[in-house]
Amino acid sequence: MHRPGKILLNICSRRFLKGFQQILGAKLSMVSSGISSSSAPFSYVPVNKASTTLPEATIKRDKYSHRTHNCGQLTVANVGEKVELCGWMEFQRMNKFITLRDNCGSTQLIVPDERTDLTKTIEGISYETVIRVIGTVNPRPNSQVNKNMATGEIEISVEHLEILNPSKTQLPFPIRQFIKAKESLRMQYRYLDLRFPEMQRNLRIRSKVLMRMREFLINKCNFVDIETPTLFRRTPGGAQEFIVPTRNPGKFYSLVQSPQQFKQLLMVGGIDRYFQIARCYRDEAGRMDRQPEFTQLDIEMSFVDRESIMMLTEDLLVESWLEELGEISTPFEQMRYDDAMELYGTDKPDARLPYKLQNVTDIVKTSIALTTKTGIEYNDNFGAYAVVFPKESKNFSNSTKAQFDDISKREFPQAKLLQVKITESSWKSGLTTLLSNDVVDSIENRLNLHNGDMLFLSVGQKPDVQEVLGKLLILYTNILESKGVTLRAPGFKWLWIVDFPLFSKEDNENGIRTTHHPFTQPHPEDLHLLATDPLKVRGLHYDLVSNGWEIGGGSIRIHNSLLQKQVLEILGIDTCQMSHLLEALDSGAPPHGGIALGLDRYIAMLCNATSIRDVIAFPKSMEGRDAMSGAPIQISDEDKKLYHIRTPAD
Ligand code: AMO
Repeated sequence: MHRPGKILLNICSRRFLKGFQQILGAKLSMVSSGISSSSAPFSYVPVNKASTTLPEATIKRDKYSHRTHNCGQLTVANVGEKVELCGWMEFQRMNKFITLRDNCGSTQLIVPDERTDLTKTIEGISYETVIRVIGTVNPRPNSQVNKNMATGEIEISVEHLEILNPSKTQLPFPIRQFIKAKESLRMQYRYLDLRFPEMQRNLRIRSKVLMRMREFLINKCNFVDIETPTLFRRTPGGAQEFIVPTRNPGKFYSLVQSPQQFKQLLMVGGIDRYFQIARCYRDEAGRMDRQPEFTQLDIEMSFVDRESIMMLTEDLLVESWLEELGEISTPFEQMRYDDAMELYGTDKPDARLPYKLQNVTDIVKTSIALTTKTGIEYNDNFGAYAVVFPKESKNFSNSTKAQFDDISKREFPQAKLLQVKITESSWKSGLTTLLSNDVVDSIENRLNLHNGDMLFLSVGQKPDVQEVLGKLLILYTNILESKGVTLRAPGFKWLWIVDFPLFSKEDNENGIRTTHHPFTQPHPEDLHLLATDPLKVRGLHYDLVSNGWEIGGGSIRIHNSLLQKQVLEILGIDTCQMSHLLEALDSGAPPHGGIALGLDRYIAMLCNATSIRDVIAFPKSMEGRDAMSGAPIQISDEDKKLYHIRTPAD
């Protein structure tokens, strides 16, 4: 795209331009506020089809716009055509060569030498100014063809150039592919960041996939798209909710963490097949895959079982899949929760990973040394697991070791982590401080350890012993891949995780919490354990996982009010708070179930984005702030009074 040898000239002319633009500043602001000045360096013409000075008959315009094409559309097939383009001036050289950009791409414009009037106009405008041009499509000279650009074989010889709105000179960052500003700055000026091609592409993929999902659900499967309230009452037993004060003293709404109860009530209301692209709110810290407000594709169906919901979800993904993303094949593999923890140390495994956890509990359990030296007990929950990266110890540094030790101590205190490079002849001494010699020999044989391997071993209590290795498995794979080692298999690896425990241990007075939410149907084979050993009960819950991301989760619901009451009581939830649901279940509730897909995560995965913020037009920062407006902000004393709020400062 760039013509070599001209860059220096361009820098000089830009310096000159800066001074020139300061002089023009006043005139530009007059123009942008709609007041035209007769001595302005260009004429401001309101945009309408009649504003062109060229004969209308020669131009074939788009039905809904005065443009004929977008900036990514023209090819040699259009040579000779008279066209009108609008967009942002991304770049210019010598007041002659302009790159014009819009959401679809860029096109090169050339101002003919004899058009000194246009050259003057260009000299007075800064990058990111919005312009409109009319000109003729010409083939580029052979030496200037750019095969990497969709429009790289043509250029437009400009006949008419009009400034629709000048941009100020000092934007916070340039909109150039190779210069990326810090994320905090990009978030503060998100409207500029949205001009980058990746953001344009990501938001368009999102829109297209959602349209196909709607089409499949409504047109092919008879689903009804129904909006449900976001102002609701607190739902016990789930995520932390945002509280909304009211004018009524002591009365608060909660923002819904999901439309869960409403979609179940819709089933009681005979809707049968519901879906919604629903905004959800959870007061939790931001992460790459998490935001306090996010979007779900929420689905509920009556008269279904677990397999029907899984099949519908798979068909939905296949039908809305974009060809450019490669293959998607169904049915997806199912993996029991216990197996996922055993093999990957997480309930959202990245099945592209070549290495897995290996259970060496039976070997380690024979070592008396471990209990005497560390006090770790060999109880029912004891576990010893290993991960081996064959021939990959060379990239393991002391700082990596320190980082992993820190993670282990901070996040998984019930596991003792050992990190050993199988390189030196003395490597066994790293283990014999805790384990007896014959146990270390058995581990060496079982794991088939060789010189150059990297071994991670964790001993202690489950699930910490598994989870710490699950995390290191990902982190060390990332480190190796950043150094050019390819480990993950290509493409998407889909998994259904099933047979989750209905309850998990919690350090609260009941010592128990729901693994998913309190409305999940217990596994029929485990119902007898509900009263006696609830932690052993499995739920009819399923999670959809791909490449290590939890994309969705759902379950078959409890539709019997007595069973629902029993589960709420096990959880220590006051059933009076849920009387509206219990009453509804008593009023002829059909058996039902559903799922919710986290759309931000799903689209981020499709777009190969590392963070969901890259697929949300106006995301929140990691701290949950809106970087553009600064929200959340303080409120006025009047508002505080109206809503009966007092802050520590008052
Ligand atoms: P769950 O809580 O598992 O289920 O949420 C479903 C999916 O929503 C996505 N998700 C999030 N995405 C971004 N930011 C967040 N803070 C966030 N939290 C969750 C995940 C997750 O898999 N009502 C149930 C669904 C049901 O049972 O039908 C629910 O909300 O991708």
